[in-house]
Amino acid sequence: MWYRFGLTVVVAVAVAFSVRQYFYGRRCKCRASLKGRVVIITGATSGIGLAVAKELASRGANLILTGRNLCKLSKVEKHLKKEIPEGNIEAQLLDLTSFRSISTFVEQISKSNQPVHALINNAGVFYANPENTADGFDVTFQTNYLGVFLLTLLLLPVLKKDNVARIVNLSSAAHNFVHTYPKLEYHKVFDDCPENRFQAYGYSKFCLVLFSVKLSKLLYNTNVSVHCVDPGNVETNIFHNFPPLADPWRFYLQKPFRVFVIKRPLEAAQSVLHALLAPKPGFYIKGLEQTEEYNPDVQDLVYAEQLWIESRKACAAHLSSTK
Ligand SMILES: NC(=O)c1ccc[n+]([C@@H]2O[C@H](COP(=O)([O-])OP(=O)(O)OC[C@H]3O[C@@H](n4cnc5c(N)ncnc54)[C@H](OP(=O)(O)O)[C@@H]3O)[C@@H](O)[C@H]2O)c1
Repeated sequence: MWYRFGLTVVVAVAVAFSVRQYFYGRRCKCRASLKGRVVIITGATSGIGLAVAKELASRGANLILTGRNLCKLSKVEKHLKKEIPEGNIEAQLLDLTSFRSISTFVEQISKSNQPVHALINNAGVFYANPENTADGFDVTFQTNYLGVFLLTLLLLPVLKKDNVARIVNLSSAAHNFVHTYPKLEYHKVFDDCPENRFQAYGYSKFCLVLFSVKLSKLLYNTNVSVHCVDPGNVETNIFHNFPPLADPWRFYLQKPFRVFVIKRPLEAAQSVLHALLAPKPGFYIKGLEQTEEYNPDVQDLVYAEQLWIESRKACAAHLSSTK
């Protein structure tokens, strides 16, 4: 009887371990050095961004952490400087819901006249209240896409100064559910219901990937490459407004199950590191692999051109110096 019990325990542990490994994925083994190279990461105050920041600081990057909340940002900066004393870390305010904040940040970066090796567009929101930003766009749309569009275009001149530079955009499987090109006005005001919040998120990520395809074509044969990363499902603060997890009882009751099938930020960070450090990571990355499993509609040149024109119009006051 003891023999059977022992065997059952061994099999159960082996199965649990295999399930966990399957969902967690592999570690990025790239050893490329980032010593002295400037890397900017948005939304570095929690989740995947914070995990990536720690990894990059310990690899010697000149890290520029950005966040929308000054208090959180300086706590993270202090914590990282203590944990990685040899790291070269600087924190700067950058709120993607404000075009002015984006422009001010880029002005400061440009003043230093240093080449930027990488821009990691990680910041994002999910199921956010559908409010309008001061610039007149839905919060989810501006945080996850339009702010990223402006930030990226404004930073292109300093990215072009490095020998090899990369732009890494955090995508999501939710972009796959979008099949029509919704009008930009949809995002100024929409009725609040769970379906619409999910749609707003999916649409913002669809626009991000559509923009990435277009930008990657425009930058073909230059020193700057563009990559999208789908991190999978990751246990982070982003789910705080998500109805199935917003209720504390349900959150804790589901926790034991999530431990096995939902990644922790450090596991998700591996895909971002791969996009940044692998010699040829490819355009769309899941786990540590290049994949074609993204929404085919992001290849639509008409959509891409329409979005490009509308986005430039929306950010026109801040884009006067770029083509
Ligand atoms: N977690 C997942 O399962 C999952 C799946 C697919 C894709 N993603 C993507 O992965 C990225 C990182 O998300 P996460 O899961 O790590 O979530 P998270 O822990 O909530 O981190 C999001 C980060 O973005 C920042 N942020 C939010 N609004 C901002 C704004 N207006 N300006 C500047 N920064 C802002 C947050 O700042 P505060 O700390 O001040 O809130 C935080 O630092 C997002 O783009 C997300 O869409 C996540």
